[in-house]
Amino acid sequence: MEIKTRFTDSLGPSAIRAITTMINAKTAAGIAVTSFAGGMPAKEFFPLKELREITENIFDNEDGQVIQYAPSTGYEPLKRTLADFMKRFQVNTTSENIQIYEGSTQALSYITRAMLTDGGAVVVEDPSYTGALDIFRSYRAEIIDVPMDDDGLNMEMLENALKSHDVKFIYTIPDFQNPSGRVTSVEKRKKMVELSEKYNVLILEDAPYSLLSFSGNVFPAIKSFDKDNHVVYIGSVSKIIAPGMRIGWTVGSKLFTQQMVYIKMIDDLQVNNLSQRQVFHYLSEYDVDEHLETVRKVYGHRRDLMVEAVRESFPEGTKVVVPEGGMFLWLELPEKYDTEKLFEPVFNENIAFVPGSKFYAAPGRSLNCMRLNFATSNEAAISEKVRRMGEIIASLK
Ligand SMILES: Cc1ncc(COP(=O)(O)O)c(C=O)c1O
Repeated sequence: MEIKTRFTDSLGPSAIRAITTMINAKTAAGIAVTSFAGGMPAKEFFPLKELREITENIFDNEDGQVIQYAPSTGYEPLKRTLADFMKRFQVNTTSENIQIYEGSTQALSYITRAMLTDGGAVVVEDPSYTGALDIFRSYRAEIIDVPMDDDGLNMEMLENALKSHDVKFIYTIPDFQNPSGRVTSVEKRKKMVELSEKYNVLILEDAPYSLLSFSGNVFPAIKSFDKDNHVVYIGSVSKIIAPGMRIGWTVGSKLFTQQMVYIKMIDDLQVNNLSQRQVFHYLSEYDVDEHLETVRKVYGHRRDLMVEAVRESFPEGTKVVVPEGGMFLWLELPEKYDTEKLFEPVFNENIAFVPGSKFYAAPGRSLNCMRLNFATSNEAAISEKVRRMGEIIASLK
């Protein structure tokens, strides 16, 4: 039986997960694929040794409680640790303002459900993260895409959107944005808070990449300028520890946090106890800064190699946004190229990327753009396969 509702009609495979499925099919057939497509961090730097040690200690010392039912509000020691962690972004908060989720995706999903069940619009950066766009679409949100300047959303256009639509929230990724790699300036962060107060609209600040800053310079969160609970901050350990742990959190008002707890109660009761405790022990007893330092150095080097390979081998006129952090390179090829059409010949040579159009709310946009992940693949693969992509593209002229 097929379920046929307005909700199921809005569902489809996520663009990036669909590419991952294609890659997995090749891998299962014994074909190695170099993927610059997904948002995967480099697994060779996951703190496996530390997590093994932590897990053993948890099972040795924390009795059956570790696999008992636990409160929907989340593991209190982890929440206190995260409250302290938020000081890195100049946010002063307490555990009462924090809720834990199965990754930031679940936070996005709960907030969208809470705010858009009765309809309404969301403002997104143009381009934006496909996973968030898919969630907004599943609730049939009216998606208003506001263009970005190099330093974040265009403020004039943002204000016009807020004036003319019933906007429930502004969704923004201020640090090393996915997919464009851009950073929202401090000035614009303040201005966004001002606008959110003026139009009484919520800002959802999705910030999984903030600590992947190659210079080590960490920006104050938009939330740090919030005086009146108009900003909800969404954090995640996916890109700083490991995504399979599925731990994300929000920082919002006490009332908002309580509402999220109610959704958790009806949705899945609680976040996995073991993951919450693993993250708590890792963040509070191990040197996360040393770990981040290693990852940042490697990612920065991989970015350099990728930029160099693109500049040497991609068609003349290709523009590269060189990000100062994060995991992605955003490329704009000359207008005549359609990266959706390039996907197949490149994939036939066992290399994957994401066509730029997938990051837009409206179809058929920026067909000449693509996103490449420089974090996952090793240095040799980046140098060789990006040049190979350049050759394939040149051969298709
Ligand atoms: C901007 C953004 N938000 C959220 C996520 C998902 O994070 P999580 O693993 O915490 O669900 C990603 C993953 O790529 C992302 O790029």
